[in-house]
Formats: sequence, structure tokens, C-alpha cells
Amino acid sequence: MSRRDALLVAGGAALSATLPGRTMDAARSTVDTAPAPGAPPSAAGAGAIRIGGDLSVDRLGFGALAIVNRVPYGPPKDAAQMRRVLRWVVELGIDFIDTADAYGPHLSEELIKAALYPYPEGLVIATKGGLIRPGREPGDLDGSPGYLRRACEGSLRRLGVERIDLYQLHAVDPRVPLEESLGELAELRKEGKIHHIGVSNMDLEQLERARRVAPLASIQNRYNFGDRAADDVLRYCEAQGLVFIPWDPLGAAAGTAGSAAPADGGARLAQIARRRGISSAQAALAWLLTRSPQLLPIPGTSSLAHLWANVAAASIRLTPEEMRALG
Ligand SMILES: NC(=O)c1ccc[n+]([C@@H]2O[C@H](COP(=O)([O-])OP(=O)(O)OC[C@H]3O[C@@H](n4cnc5c(N)ncnc54)[C@H](OP(=O)(O)O)[C@@H]3O)[C@@H](O)[C@H]2O)c1
Repeated sequence: MSRRDALLVAGGAALSATLPGRTMDAARSTVDTAPAPGAPPSAAGAGAIRIGGDLSVDRLGFGALAIVNRVPYGPPKDAAQMRRVLRWVVELGIDFIDTADAYGPHLSEELIKAALYPYPEGLVIATKGGLIRPGREPGDLDGSPGYLRRACEGSLRRLGVERIDLYQLHAVDPRVPLEESLGELAELRKEGKIHHIGVSNMDLEQLERARRVAPLASIQNRYNFGDRAADDVLRYCEAQGLVFIPWDPLGAAAGTAGSAAPADGGARLAQIARRRGISSAQAALAWLLTRSPQLLPIPGTSSLAHLWANVAAASIRLTPEEMRALG
């Protein structure tokens, strides 16, 4: 655990006292001599968005890929710390968690259940199926109806729920017509195993095709300050009332490997961050939240300090001048 995280754990006692409900294991920490941090931020600062018309969540969620080892997929180095992060996620008011059966594989879903079950009322958990290992090569995907059914039933078991709030097709399997993949998700929805269907990693043409097969509540694509390739999909979501869940929301501002750097290397974002006394990662989140009311960013982290900072960004909106300066 980093020193900043240790200080926050100590401050967790104060947080538990501030927020009603569950008791955080932070409160039982032996690191209790450090000063408590200031008043906790809340995801409610982001305002609410409705998924599928009926699931109202705050417009800043949590991406639960960060709680497992990413390359290669595997268990986290410190599972207790990841459970602590998850409990803080809900303590700080986040009510939307995104995961996938592929993360771990299975471990992210299992950790969520271990840390949060029985789930607090109003917590929406989204998961995904169709990816059998990291990557987007044909052999990494399975969008066949039989596989998706088994994947969905596995997620139901691991999460300990009777119905998945939002079940997303992780990516289109080029060997399976997307009509077949979406058709199976529509069937699972009819059976009551899925509440809402979402898709991920689709272009606009695929999204329109998918919507002809099943009612969709959301799409999850890579989108951040430095990578706006999905701008056309975002405009479509705004016009059609679909939720756009941007993955890699911090992009180069978090130094994520593979994230496209903005043309100026992030200098303008860093300048605005400096002026406001926030981090570039917080500025990247504020840019998304200001950019469109349909965006529901899901920054992931394994660090309490980063979680705190990300939730603090929920209340930050950039001015029209700042948005113009950022292009
Ligand atoms: N649909 C898909 O194909 C797909 C693909 C990828 C991801 N996702 C989903 O999207 C979520 C988010 O995407 P992502 O994980 O690619 O990107 P991300 O959340 O933008 O970035 C995660 C990285 O940012 C770091 N970080 C988090 N907060 C920070 C802060 N305040 N300051 C500095 N660094 C910070 C984390 O490191 P620390 O742990 O050290 O904080 C981690 O390395 C995932 O958790 C997953 O749920 C979906």
C-alpha cells in the first residue's frame, strides 16, 4: 500500500463516521495516528443518468478491471486492498460498477461479490461476455449463442444475482453474425436473466444493426480527451438517448499503456489542471463530464488515493472557455 493510501485508510475511520451504512475495514486499520483527510467527495457531484430509462445512477462509475492483474490477467497482488477499494467505491457514493467475466478471468466478479454482497440498494453492476482472453483477435472472442448463454449464467452465479442489471456484448466476434449474438442476449432478457442489454467496441454501423435485433441501453467504447474516434457514436447516443460508457477514460493522463496521447502531448490539459490545482487525470474526467451528458465514465483504480481523486472530479465542470481551449 502506498503512503498516501495508508493515510487515507487512517482517514477511513472519519469517512465511516460521516457516511451511514456499512463500516469500512479501514476503520479497523491499525494505522490510526495519521490525520483524517477532509470531507469525503461524493460521486453524486456528477449528477444522475438513467440506464435503459429506469436505472438511475450517478454519472461517475467504477471500472473493475483495475482490481485484477491486467497483463497477464491474474489475481491482484493484494486482494485485501482490492476489497477495501471496492468498499470505498460504494462509501463514496458510486452506484455503477463495470466488470466482465474476462477480467481475471472471473476474479473481478468474484471480488465484487466478496467485498459487497449483499449489495447495497441501488447499486447497479454491469458485466460483459464474449471475450475469452485479453485481445481482439478472432481466437480471443466467442460470440456464439451457446457460449454467451454459458457466460451469462456463470456471471449470474459469480455475482450472486438472479438478474444482471446491464449485460454487455464485450466485442463483435467476426466469425458470428452480430444478429446471432444479440439474438441470444435478447432471449436471455426474455427469460429474466438480463435486465438491460449493452454492447461494446462497436462502430456506428454495427450499433445500428444491433439495435434492430434487441433494445439496447448502452454502448461502451474507448473514448477520452486524446482519443475521440468514437465521436460519431457519441453524437448518435445523444440523439437516441443511449448511455455511452467511455473505457480508458483517463487515457494518456493516467499514463495507461496504449492510450493515444493528444496532439500536444497533453500540455493544454496539464495547463488547465495546473491553473485549477487539480491533476491531469481529474481534468481528463472533468472534460468527459462536461463534454456530454450521455457520458458515464468508469475510471478504474487499485489505489484509494486515486479513487478519492477520481470521485472528487465528479463535481468539476470545465468552463466553455476551457472546453474551447481544449478543442
Ligand atoms: N469494453 C472494453 O473493451 C474495455 C476495455 C478496457 C477497459 N474497460 C473498462 O473500462 C474501465 C476503465 O478503463 P481502463 O482501465 O482502460 O482505463 P482507466 O480507468 O482510464 O485507467 C486505469 C489506469 O489509470 C490509473 N489511474 C486511475 N485513477 C488515476 C488517477 N486519479 N491518477 C493517475 N492514475 C490513475 C490506474 O492505476 P492505479 O491502479 O495505480 O490507480 C490504472 O493504471 C475498466 O476498469 C473496465 O471496466 C472496458
